[in-house]
Amino acid sequence: MHIETTHEPAAGTNGAIEGEAARKPAVIGVPREIFPGEKRVATVPEVVEKLIKLGFSVVLQSGAGDAAHCSDDSYRAAGAHIVADAATLWASSDIVFKVCAPTPEEVALMKAGGTLISFIWPAQKPELMQQLAERKVTVLAIDSLPRTLSRAQKMDALTSQAGVAGYRAVIEAANAFGRFFNGQITAAGKVPPAKVFIAGAGVAGLAAIGTAAGLGAIVRANDTRAEVADQVVSLGGEFVKVDYEEEGSGGGGYAKVMSEGFQQAQREMYAKQAREVDIIITTALIPGKPAPRLITAEMVKSMKPGSVIVDMAAERGGNCELTEPGQSVVKHGVTIVGYTDLVSRLAKQSSTLYATNLFRLSEELCKTKDGIINVNMEDDAIRGLTVIKEGSISWPPPPPKQAAAPAQTKPAAAPVAVKKAHGHGAPSEPMAGNKLAILFGVSAALFWFVGANAPAAFLAHFTVFVLACFVGYMVVWNVKPALHTPLMSVTNAISSIIAIGALVQIAPPIAGAANRPDDWIRWLAAAGIVLTAINMFGGFAVTQRMLAMFRK
Ligand code: NAI
Repeated sequence: MHIETTHEPAAGTNGAIEGEAARKPAVIGVPREIFPGEKRVATVPEVVEKLIKLGFSVVLQSGAGDAAHCSDDSYRAAGAHIVADAATLWASSDIVFKVCAPTPEEVALMKAGGTLISFIWPAQKPELMQQLAERKVTVLAIDSLPRTLSRAQKMDALTSQAGVAGYRAVIEAANAFGRFFNGQITAAGKVPPAKVFIAGAGVAGLAAIGTAAGLGAIVRANDTRAEVADQVVSLGGEFVKVDYEEEGSGGGGYAKVMSEGFQQAQREMYAKQAREVDIIITTALIPGKPAPRLITAEMVKSMKPGSVIVDMAAERGGNCELTEPGQSVVKHGVTIVGYTDLVSRLAKQSSTLYATNLFRLSEELCKTKDGIINVNMEDDAIRGLTVIKEGSISWPPPPPKQAAAPAQTKPAAAPVAVKKAHGHGAPSEPMAGNKLAILFGVSAALFWFVGANAPAAFLAHFTVFVLACFVGYMVVWNVKPALHTPLMSVTNAISSIIAIGALVQIAPPIAGAANRPDDWIRWLAAAGIVLTAINMFGGFAVTQRMLAMFRK
C-alpha cells in the first residue's frame, strides 16, 4: 500500500537526520503492539489530529488500534495514513511511538537515525539498550521521566497507566467478590459494607482507594512512606500505621527495603487486617527490587471464605506468596487475582491517556510547531527521558536538581572531621567563620549608624522591617519545593498588605494635611502597586488552575 510521506525510507544509510532532510517535518509511525495480550495502542484518533496540527504526519500499521476499539477508518478520518505491514511502517517513520519496549526484530526494522518513544525500562534491559545504540537511534524511555518535576506531570505515563490499573484492580475484586461493596439496610435485611485493605498507597494504590471508597466500601491502607497518610485520608480511606518507627522513603518519592524489625511489625499488622477484611489489593513495589512479600500463605488461610486478593505486583514476583502471575486462582477459599494486564483490560481508556502523554511530550520536543523535533538535553525532563542520544547511551541521567520528596536527613558529621576542622584549622571552616564575623561587624556598624542618625519615627518602622525580613526569610526559605504552589496563595495575602501600604501613600492629599508624601514616594508606591498586582493576579490565576484540576 502506498503512503505519502515527507521522508524517503532511509534504510541502509547511517540515517543521521542532517542538512536538508533534517528540516523536513517528521513522520510519526505507530506499529501494532506484538507483545502477547497487549491491547493498547500508542496513539488514538483524537490525538492524531493534534499531532498533525503540530506539523507531523502520522502513519499507523493497519489494525494497530483494533484491540483498543480504534478502527483504521477512524484514524484515516483524523488524517493518518494506514500501511499494511510492520516493515513498511518502521521504514517510513522518523519517530516511532510504541507502548511496549521493541523486540530485537522490531529494532532491526527501525530506520537508522530515527527516534523511538516507548516504555523501555533501561535498567532491566541492557541488551535492548545495546541493540538500539548500535542502530544509531535516539530513544526516549517514557518510564524514565523525572516524575517529581511538576512540569513533567502531563507526560507522566507511569502515573496515567497506574491510575487505570488501580481502578481496574477494584473492578476485578468486585467481580470476584460475591457481595455488595456498600452497606445497605433493606426490608430483606442489613448488608454490611465490604472492608477493603490496600497495601501500598502509590499512584495505583490511591486510585484503588478512591474507587473502592466511591463504591461504598470501608477502605484501609498502609504504606511504608508515612507522607502518603494524608493522601489516603483525603480519598476516603483510613491509614493504618505499622507500630515501628522507621523512615520508608528511599528517595525520589519511592520506597526502600525496610529493616527486618519493621517487616516483622508490618507482618503482624497485615495478619490482623487479613483476618478482618474481605478484600486485599496489593500494589507495593520498590524500584529495581523484587516486590516485597507482604501476604503470607498463613494470612491467606486466615481470611474469610469468599475473600479476594488482587495482587497488582504479580509481574514483579507478587506481594502475596500464593499469587500465580497472569492467573486468577482460588486457594484456601480465597480468590487470588494475579492478572498482569490490568491496564490492557481498559485498553481504550489507557491508550487515550498514554497517547495524550506522548502528545504533551511531542509539544515539548517540537515547540516550533513545524513537525521538527529538538531533543534538548539542557531540559531536565527531556534529559531524564533520553536514554540514548543518536546512538550513544545517556542513561542513567544525572540526579534531578529538585526533589518533591522530603530530603533524607544526613547523618551527623563524623566526630573526627569536626575535630580536624577546629583543631587544625581546616581552610573552609575558619573562612566561613571569618565571613560571618565580617558580616556581623558590618551589620552592627550599619545599625549603629542608623540608630544614631535616623529620626525616632523612622527607627520604629525600621525595627519592624528588619524583624519582618528575618521572620519572612526563616519561614519562606524552609518551605519544601513541593509546597511552593500553596505558598503562593499565602504570598497573595502578603501582597495585599503591600498593596494597602502603597495605596495609603498614593492617596490624594487631604486638604490642609501637613505631611503629604513627596512625589517620589508616591511614584514608588505606584510602582509597588503594579508589581504586587502582578504577583497577586498571577497567584490567583495559578491557584485557579490548580483547583480546576480537582473539579469534576
Ligand atoms: P511504586 O509503584 O514504585 O510503589 C507503589 C507503592 O508501594 C509506593 O507508594 C511504595 O511506597 C509502596 N511500598 C513499597 N514497599 C512497601 C511495603 N513493604 N509495604 C507497603 N508499601 C510499600 O510507586 P508509584 O505509585 O509509581 O509512585 C510512588 C511515588 O512516586 C508517589 O507516591 C510520588 O511520591 C512519586 N510520584 C510523584 C509525582 C509527582 O511529583 N508529580 C508523580 C507520580 C509519582
